Amino acid sequence: MKKIIITGSQGIIGKILTKKLNSQFHIYEIDITDRNHNKNYFQADISNLKSLSSVFKKIGKSDLLIHLAASSAPNAKWEYVLKNNIIGIKNIYECARIFGIKKVVFASSSHITAGYEKDALNKKNQKLVSIHDPIRPNSDYGSSKAFGEAIARQYFELYKIKSICLRIGAVLSDDNPTKDKTGRNLKIWLSHRDLLQLIKKALFSNIKFGIYYGVSNNKWKFWNISNAKKELNYQPTDNASLFLKYNQG
Ligand SMILES: NC(=O)c1ccc[n+]([C@@H]2O[C@H](COP(=O)([O-])OP(=O)(O)OC[C@H]3O[C@@H](n4cnc5c(N)ncnc54)[C@H](O)[C@@H]3O)[C@@H](O)[C@H]2O)c1
Repeated sequence: MKKIIITGSQGIIGKILTKKLNSQFHIYEIDITDRNHNKNYFQADISNLKSLSSVFKKIGKSDLLIHLAASSAPNAKWEYVLKNNIIGIKNIYECARIFGIKKVVFASSSHITAGYEKDALNKKNQKLVSIHDPIRPNSDYGSSKAFGEAIARQYFELYKIKSICLRIGAVLSDDNPTKDKTGRNLKIWLSHRDLLQLIKKALFSNIKFGIYYGVSNNKWKFWNISNAKKELNYQPTDNASLFLKYNQG
């Protein structure tokens, strides 16, 4: 079985992935919390390079890493964004370089292009936002993810570490996009099933570096996922509007 390191394994996405990937891969988890006592769980603060390096040393050789650990709230305070998202991702790529990781799947965010959202949410505007549109972050969180994508590219240019950056929409712990009163989640939902497919395809595609939006096949989605379909063979199976139909009559 292949070995995969997952950072931020105790969060919403980390828990979904460790549960679903556990039977097919040797999963090694890293997170700052001390709530997990599994053999392959390592407590570490990714903003501390020394302690992170010692964990990578203990884990030993691994080709693949899924980087989720971060302050994940769009309104997170700058001091936490700086520590967990900016210093954190630099340290992750440093460890990837030192310990010979070949590919990183980085949980980026659609907040990189949040500035388009008002227009994109307007039904009259049919233009889907694509990875070729200039970034328009409107939070420190969104800017930190742009920094993360830049670091991913930098380590590809310098050290040939492959990266797939996924600008994830909304992954929800209950996988139910209909509860959000604004209706936004009906547009940006990424179901657990589609998340798993996208992550696996990102891990095992031949693409050396790429940036993709991560969203289900929602009728009202406003991001362009044609490059994910073409390059990663991502075929999303869920559509929030159908979910709405079946679950609310
Ligand atoms: N859930 C979503 O809809 C969504 C959308 C877009 C992007 N993302 C990104 O995906 C990733 C995972 O999201 P999530 O919803 O599971 O977030 P989460 O907040 O539930 O989990 C993040 C995890 O990272 C850990 N962490 C934070 N700082 C750390 C540090 N310094 N050292 C070690 N561990 C640390 C936390 O303890 C937590 O377990 C994040 O990077 C987030 O920005 C998530």
